Amino acid sequence: MNLILLGPPGSGKGTQAKLIVEKYGIPQISTGDMLREAVAKGTELGKEAKKYMDAGQLVPDEVVIGIVKERLQQPDCEKGFILDGFPRTIAQAEALDKILEEMGKKIDAVINIQVPEEEVVKRIVNRRTCKNCGAVYHLIYNPPKEDNKCDKCGGELYQRDDDKEETVRKRYKVYKEQTEPLVEYYAKKGILYNIDGTKSIEEVFAEIDSILQKLA
Ligand code: AP5
Repeated sequence: MNLILLGPPGSGKGTQAKLIVEKYGIPQISTGDMLREAVAKGTELGKEAKKYMDAGQLVPDEVVIGIVKERLQQPDCEKGFILDGFPRTIAQAEALDKILEEMGKKIDAVINIQVPEEEVVKRIVNRRTCKNCGAVYHLIYNPPKEDNKCDKCGGELYQRDDDKEETVRKRYKVYKEQTEPLVEYYAKKGILYNIDGTKSIEEVFAEIDSILQKLA
């Protein structure tokens, strides 16, 4: 099962991707997580990417396409994968089509998680992420049992550098301009599924799961 999770920043792509991984055992490929890892390691790619990420801008297409191409060739993607945060531009979507065609694969479903701007801002400014295992929390909707400590591994929770309100609004604007056109792109291919992302985490997952069960 080859999936794309589409939606604005904070719509719950990462949260839902982790639930799909648990149930279906296919890997999550998050370009945001891969770029943050490169930033944390201080690689050349990380240094370059950080400038764009901190400003709420997209990292150049060729950089991200290269990372995804390499990742899709790893053996754990053979039985399927979940793309989280990629593609984000029409150029990335076209490049993905080409990469998958060369590999004899195709996307089975694009899950578009819809959430309005004000809800996105509320969610992101209260998001906390585990430094160790990447688990995602929300201080109000999905708080950790102990302050600042991950329920799953005990790791320290932190707030992402790009999660300030001003940057979140910028990211949302970039989403509307550069990523939303993908909704039409995938609708035309007949593989788009729209989901109301304003419901609870469990309700959103139940809706996604009912789509995936028909594909599995
Ligand atoms: P990236 O890391 O991909 O960020 P994003 O798309 O902006 O999405 P987020 O990770 O912010 O949100 P999410 O939808 O995963 O929501 P989450 O589940 O955490 O990208 C960051 C940057 O990297 C980009 O700005 C860009 O610079 C660069 N980049 C990445 N990919 C790129 C690409 N392809 N091309 C170019 N540049 C790229 O949930 C958010 C919060 O809400 C959490 O606290 C969660 O607990 C809570 N929550 C989730 N669901 C619910 C719910 N149903 N109800 C209540 N709360 C909920």
